[in-house]
Amino acid sequence: MSSEHIQTQVDGSILRITIHRPEKKNALTGAMYTALTEALKWLDADDALRVGFITGTEDCFTSGNDLADFLSTPPSSQDSPVMRFLAQLPQQKKPLVAAVNGAAVGVGTTLLLHCDLVYAAPLAKFQMPFTNLGLCPEAGSSLLLPMTMGYQRAAELLMLGEPFTAAQAHAYGLVNQVFEGDYQAQAFARARSLAAQPPQSIRLTKALLKRTQHTLLSETMAEEGANFIRMLGEPAAREAMSAFMQKRKPDFSNLT
Ligand code: COA
Repeated sequence: MSSEHIQTQVDGSILRITIHRPEKKNALTGAMYTALTEALKWLDADDALRVGFITGTEDCFTSGNDLADFLSTPPSSQDSPVMRFLAQLPQQKKPLVAAVNGAAVGVGTTLLLHCDLVYAAPLAKFQMPFTNLGLCPEAGSSLLLPMTMGYQRAAELLMLGEPFTAAQAHAYGLVNQVFEGDYQAQAFARARSLAAQPPQSIRLTKALLKRTQHTLLSETMAEEGANFIRMLGEPAAREAMSAFMQKRKPDFSNLT
């Protein structure tokens, strides 16, 4: 099921999912979201698998949605690859462990809110620049982020859209631990420990931990998704994304 940009590898009872498009900082295209969704479904469906391990390349997790893709073929419904990927995340029954280094932008940060254990290297850099792009939060982050770190911190990160460090992410409760040295190997060791636990207990614990979120999360994601799709076609987002692709600063001066 491996593809060029989303690589999957079974290691014992762990499914390793690697985002691998280094020339574009692992930016996610529609095809990559579809491959990620398939990998997540495979993880839950295969009795031999117990844990998903999601990572990027050594120096970059993912720069988020491919902005050229957003410009040329923006998602138009909840049935688009990105929306199907986002909808899969809260449905995941088996635990997900993430190992992050370098840029984790947009969905690169928000998908971590759906992982069970999140580890980072000291140079990991997180950012949710949705407002900078004329957009709004996605992946349930408008609900999960304040639940994780409190309203003011969440508001600062979502409204100012500035990058934050691994140390901040750890202090805010988004990251379990920052590993010096080989962060992938150390994070993978945690995935192995998880995989050695009784699988039914782990799955039930995950379900119980998430139980109270379910209804609120699906309502929030529907609301976020509808607004996100609408805003992608509007002038602020078009200008912000074009500016990024043209390597210039966006100009919002003519917008009301
Ligand atoms: N979509 C499309 N292309 C992207 C991309 C994205 N999200 N992120 C990076 N790239 C491309 C760049 O256009 C560049 O391509 P080029 O070599 O053909 O010019 C290449 O990847 C390298 O990116 P660059 O910006 O030069 O790397 P950097 O190390 O200076 O910065 C980032 C890395 C991730 C901080 C920066 O690329 C960035 O901010 N990307 C956009 C993030 C974003 O807004 N994501 C969407 C969130 S909803």
